[in-house]
Amino acid sequence: MTFSELAKHRQSVRSYQDRPVEADKVRAIVESVRVAPSASNSQPWTLIIVDDPPLKDKVARATFSSTISFNQFSLGAPVIAVLTIEKPRVITQIGGWIKTREFPLIDIGIAAEHFCLQAADLGLGTCMVGWFDEKAIKELLSIPRSTRIALLITLGYAAEGYPLRPKVRKDTVAMSRYNTYRQSHPDVFGRKEYTQGLSQTCRTCRRGNGVAPHADAGRGALQKESFPFLVGRN
Ligand SMILES: Cc1cc2nc3c(=O)[nH]c(=O)nc-3n(C[C@H](O)[C@H](O)[C@H](O)COP(=O)(O)O)c2cc1C
Repeated sequence: MTFSELAKHRQSVRSYQDRPVEADKVRAIVESVRVAPSASNSQPWTLIIVDDPPLKDKVARATFSSTISFNQFSLGAPVIAVLTIEKPRVITQIGGWIKTREFPLIDIGIAAEHFCLQAADLGLGTCMVGWFDEKAIKELLSIPRSTRIALLITLGYAAEGYPLRPKVRKDTVAMSRYNTYRQSHPDVFGRKEYTQGLSQTCRTCRRGNGVAPHADAGRGALQKESFPFLVGRN
């Protein structure tokens, strides 16, 4: 799988086969999390793999209740990973304080995605779970009271016939920009190199891909043509 295929292939899996995950696959996932980047290389996480069935069930039960039951699927996952937030290096703490940035949360998001992408590459399904009873899980796993749990990730083989869903996402024009925060006219995206494989409709002029001026615009012409849209309408 190429990286773009992998990125499209990874999805939240909420139904699993009753089949254990091989130890070497779990090790490969742990290794991919281990090498994830982090601010000042602080690596402010601990990854706890919960694969003991009775314990894993107890952790799963701490992700839902009778009133809020959307995470009930986690009971079916043979493995649940727990990512705790550890103190980053002092330099990162100071940097985060000066710049008012939560670097460890950014770091953990990256580590979690390494987990999920590696799992997908190995034919496994995952789902990040941010809704859980933190206190209950800390007690179950002997996590100190002062340590926060950032995220849980369910892991296992997706149920037979589990469909690969189309991604529900903002379109390229809505979520990205070139050279300014202000929204560009999609002619900027109309050039072949940006639009191959994408399907999008211009929100301003309602033209889709493949319309000649979009596909053929050169950079100079493009800037000129986009100008009124950049200045006037956004
Ligand atoms: C930080 C975070 C927390 C999430 N928490 C939950 C959760 O508690 N339960 C759940 O079913 N999905 C959860 N998700 C999964 C998202 O709903 C899912 O990633 C999103 O809808 C996109 O769908 P996809 O993962 O299939 O591409 C979470 C995802 C993230 C990144």
